[in-house]
Amino acid sequence: MKDLAGKTAFVTGAASGIGLGIATALAQAGVKVMMCDIEKDALDKATSDLKQTNADVDGVIADVSLKDELQAAADATIERFGKVHILVNNAGVGGGGSYGQWTDAGWNWTLGVNLMSVIWGIEIFGPLIEAHGEGGQIVSTASIAGLVAAVAPPYNVTKYGVVALSEGLRVELAPRGIGVSVLCPGFIRTRIMESARNVPDRFAGAVDTTGAAADLESSEFAAAAAEAIAHGIDPLYVGELVREAIEGDWPYIMTDTEFEPAVDARFAAIKEGFDRIRDRKPRH
Ligand SMILES: NC(=O)c1ccc[n+]([C@@H]2O[C@H](COP(=O)([O-])OP(=O)(O)OC[C@H]3O[C@@H](n4cnc5c(N)ncnc54)[C@H](O)[C@@H]3O)[C@@H](O)[C@H]2O)c1
Repeated sequence: MKDLAGKTAFVTGAASGIGLGIATALAQAGVKVMMCDIEKDALDKATSDLKQTNADVDGVIADVSLKDELQAAADATIERFGKVHILVNNAGVGGGGSYGQWTDAGWNWTLGVNLMSVIWGIEIFGPLIEAHGEGGQIVSTASIAGLVAAVAPPYNVTKYGVVALSEGLRVELAPRGIGVSVLCPGFIRTRIMESARNVPDRFAGAVDTTGAAADLESSEFAAAAAEAIAHGIDPLYVGELVREAIEGDWPYIMTDTEFEPAVDARFAAIKEGFDRIRDRKPRH
């Protein structure tokens, strides 16, 4: 999408961190933004701060892991702005539990927020973008953990899912005038380590509430990750990359090269799998 000014975006998880960075960068480019989040106070503050810059933004509360609430947020977006061109599936939580600690509730919470909301977002907003014929872009926030399984299993699974969904749909939606990008951030300075603040009441008590850090492999690794996030990349810088990626229809949006060797190592291990059987003749 070359000319962003005057277009409309719907951004989930827009009250904090990367989502707020994306909403801000898009608003600065003249995009009208419907900011969606589960946290009312943070969302009120984020929208009022952006409105003071003369940005045409609004807020809508939704738990994106509930399809009805996401649908209602889409309805509110059309009612407020008339059309929507850009969908940013960004809301996400770190958590779910590592081996020996995970629970069904932990999996359901993580799968719901990080993956089902992306599936439903595309299902609900895809036809709305197609309807006006002006084209659009879908950006979904995965993680480097969507390319290397580096943290808790539920988080890795959801993020690999977002990458797979985006890669497949990119091909399928291109003829319909919709570009598809997947954002794979490294360490970004956000509140992700405090994700447990948003465990919905229906999972209360059944999810480890010590937060994302408790799900990482060891406390030493958790402390290092917390430290890396505390000194991580500025979320507004990530938002500016996303804006550029929408303009250029980038398939993958990386934030930095810190984990490129880890991705190379994974691809090398996959190649080794082929090498091991290269000279064999499969039996049919
Ligand atoms: N921070 C990082 O280092 C990092 C790295 C890779 C990927 N990510 C991904 O970036 C995305 C944004 O996270 P962040 O780091 O900005 O964290 P954050 O906690 O600062 O922001 C996440 C936002 O999502 C909202 N949210 C949580 N559950 C929700 C729900 N059920 N419905 C609606 N909104 C909900 C939160 O209220 C919050 O405003 C996530 O998908 C996360 O997995 C973050």
